[in-house]
Amino acid sequence: MAEVAETVVAVATESNEATRWDGPRWDGLILGANLVTLTDDSGYGLIEQGALGWRDGVLQFVGPVSGLPALPEQLARQVIQAKGCITPGLIDCHTHAVFAGDRAGEFEQRLRGVSYEEIARSGGGIVSSVRATREASEEELFVQSLPRARALRDDGVTTLEIKSGYGLDFDNERKMLRVARRIGDELGISVRTTFLGAHALPPEFAGRADAYIDSVCEWLPRLHGEGLVDAVDAFCERIGFTLEQTRRVFEATRALGLPVKLHADQLSDGEGAALVAEFGGLSADHVEHTSEAGVRAMAQAGTVAVLLPGAFHCLRETVLPPLDAFRQHGVPMAVATDCNPGTSPLQSLRLAMSLACTHFRLTPEEALRGATHNAARALGLSDRGALRVGMRADFAHWNIRQPAELGYWLGGDPLLASYSSGERLV
Ligand code: NIG
Ligand code: FE
Repeated sequence: MAEVAETVVAVATESNEATRWDGPRWDGLILGANLVTLTDDSGYGLIEQGALGWRDGVLQFVGPVSGLPALPEQLARQVIQAKGCITPGLIDCHTHAVFAGDRAGEFEQRLRGVSYEEIARSGGGIVSSVRATREASEEELFVQSLPRARALRDDGVTTLEIKSGYGLDFDNERKMLRVARRIGDELGISVRTTFLGAHALPPEFAGRADAYIDSVCEWLPRLHGEGLVDAVDAFCERIGFTLEQTRRVFEATRALGLPVKLHADQLSDGEGAALVAEFGGLSADHVEHTSEAGVRAMAQAGTVAVLLPGAFHCLRETVLPPLDAFRQHGVPMAVATDCNPGTSPLQSLRLAMSLACTHFRLTPEEALRGATHNAARALGLSDRGALRVGMRADFAHWNIRQPAELGYWLGGDPLLASYSSGERLV
């Protein structure tokens, strides 16, 4: 890593306000770092000796220092001299970061050879996190979940998706979504909430999965009415819900004009990717077992493939997602942590990028694009994920020489600073 720091070289005052620059003054300007803009379809879009200026939370200038229209101190109220690299803020587009308790005991069971599916079928797995989450008060749930979101933020995340799905009744799903929103307020990051009522069958509905789906479809408009739902997800799998049940959840979602996404084809090919594509879904996630037909459907619908190498790693999976088919058909690939207590207790999106490179053979550039530009797309957000004038001033400043280092280092603490909408977070 480069031994770099940042120095504030000028803070404008009223007295040096006289300027040849006629435009409004920017709030901030960072000079000298390499900008990893990701503005084109391929390549890092690197600008060496770059300048990044923002005002009112929006990027005003992205280019070489030599291209600045006036002297830095004339352009911005605060000018920061920097080295290293600046990327778009990282976007973790798939997490279950709000939950109570942990499942370290199941981790030990799995290491003794019991499979994730066996644990789930014997009353453990997701349902055991449901028990703990239901028992926790809203405050306890917030206190337990906040450090995970903070760890993600402190490693460069500026936008974080958080799912419900460990409440599985109206009040507890609502509690989870409220905690997710509060985390965003507390940490200054953008939190996008996803209702995942169809995550698992709660014990009180044993043998009555269709009736449970009726309830999920009834809760959804109420939760949406409280402003708690940005998107809807389901777990379509042998140990989750069937295609037909998932379809019903999606129809209820479509009726509200909300977007869908899906835990699809994680443990088996259940044709989930094709279903979510049929609904014009934002993303199909996991997708280890997705067929060529599923990939084609995703390409046609513009559905993003969200790769979750943390779950692949922790479950010691061996079947890779159809990466070449995604590339051939032009399906954008995102990378996320899937931060959850069962299959992916992963609290670093940088580490997810590294796992994506090692296990899935993504290039470091694909991994970075997957954790920024394509992740924004997987959340339906077009105002972030690249460094371009007019986009949100969400960016991360790293103590690295080249962008490939983001998928290279395992651990460490390379983040120097991060900004959300021009406000400094870290
Ligand atoms: O993304 N597959 C379903 N949902 C999570 C696991 C949640 C859990 O085991 O608690 C996942 O892997
Ligand atoms: Fe997940």
